[in-house]
Amino acid sequence: MDVKYKIAVLAGDGIGPEVMREAIKVLQAIESKFEIKFEFMECLVGWAGIDATGKALPDETLETCKKADAILFGSVGLPHRDPDLSPENRPERAALLRLRKEFSLFANLRPVRVRPSLFDVCPLKNDRIGSGIDILIVRELTGGLYFGRPKLIEFIDNQLPIKRRERIKRAIDTMTLTETEIENIARVAFNAAQKRNKKVTSIDKANVLENGVLWREVVSKVSNQYPDVKLEHMFVDNAALQLMLKPNQFDVMVCENTFGDILSDEAAALSGSLGMLPSASLGETKGSLTFGLYEPAGGSAPDIAGKNIANPIAQILSAALMLRYSFGQGDSAVAIERAIDNILDARIVTPDICPKQNQHTYKVVSTTQMGDLIAEEIIKN
Ligand code: IPM
Ligand code: MN
Repeated sequence: MDVKYKIAVLAGDGIGPEVMREAIKVLQAIESKFEIKFEFMECLVGWAGIDATGKALPDETLETCKKADAILFGSVGLPHRDPDLSPENRPERAALLRLRKEFSLFANLRPVRVRPSLFDVCPLKNDRIGSGIDILIVRELTGGLYFGRPKLIEFIDNQLPIKRRERIKRAIDTMTLTETEIENIARVAFNAAQKRNKKVTSIDKANVLENGVLWREVVSKVSNQYPDVKLEHMFVDNAALQLMLKPNQFDVMVCENTFGDILSDEAAALSGSLGMLPSASLGETKGSLTFGLYEPAGGSAPDIAGKNIANPIAQILSAALMLRYSFGQGDSAVAIERAIDNILDARIVTPDICPKQNQHTYKVVSTTQMGDLIAEEIIKN
């Protein structure tokens, strides 16, 4: 009997539906090669949810996610429609951040890899790339500046003399992290490093922020339990610089929510396109089960939506992470990753990765062609 996994499929807005279609195509190829079956439970989310039900995360969608073994998420948000809604009801917060919180998905894993065949699309010179870039960014996802309270916009008096005094707006966001939150994310980072190159770079702003002071203290304490893993501390501004100067010094980077958001986009640029960066958002492991939400790190890219030019690789790699982390199906995850490597090694890419000066050395394909090629490659091997 094949094992059957229930996947809540939340394609969302912008390029979400088109890249999701390709991920499902690839998962169907996996079904035909391995003894695994999937039940795809498609749900509305984002503006599709708002238009149909008034909510970015309709109740029915949340119920389906609760019944699922994992969530495969596309992307949400359409900035041109933002003025229709108050900020807290917009899809980024009301759907994505809510799901992360609802399922306690505290650990966000973002692997960034630059393969030799794509060195010429990496914006860095070859001597900076060295033998290649392979970084795992571990981002705390349910605390930090994103979720701290108070969070509001209020009116205050400006501090000018009485004649020029007026009410002005002030925005407040709060960065909070508990010892437990830091300890939990640090453990994820050290465990991951043990299976990789045994180095953790802990990112903070301990020279200015109390959050950084506590972060450094707790991560150092956790590191005592991992004597085989080397720990290095780095300020976040320097980390942004080092990613450009010497990216191959990094193995695992562990960061607060906002820092991880920013550094992961920066790191994605190294791989040539944000359309290459997958992510896994994981909750606590219970027994042998880890519930997770899997999504590309890039956004909904409304400017290129509907044109069949978006890069589906981040979505497809996210599906591979789902097979590995939530379903314990490492072999099928590797099959997807190998298939993608083979296609890229053959210099077949979507337009986002193809620099103009190299157009003659690449074969540029559409979103659907890329999905077809990856699915065929899986079936062939
Ligand atoms: C990401 C995205 C989200 C984030 C947005 C869409 C809320 O940028 O997953 O990195 O900031 O976490
Ligand atoms: Mn982001």
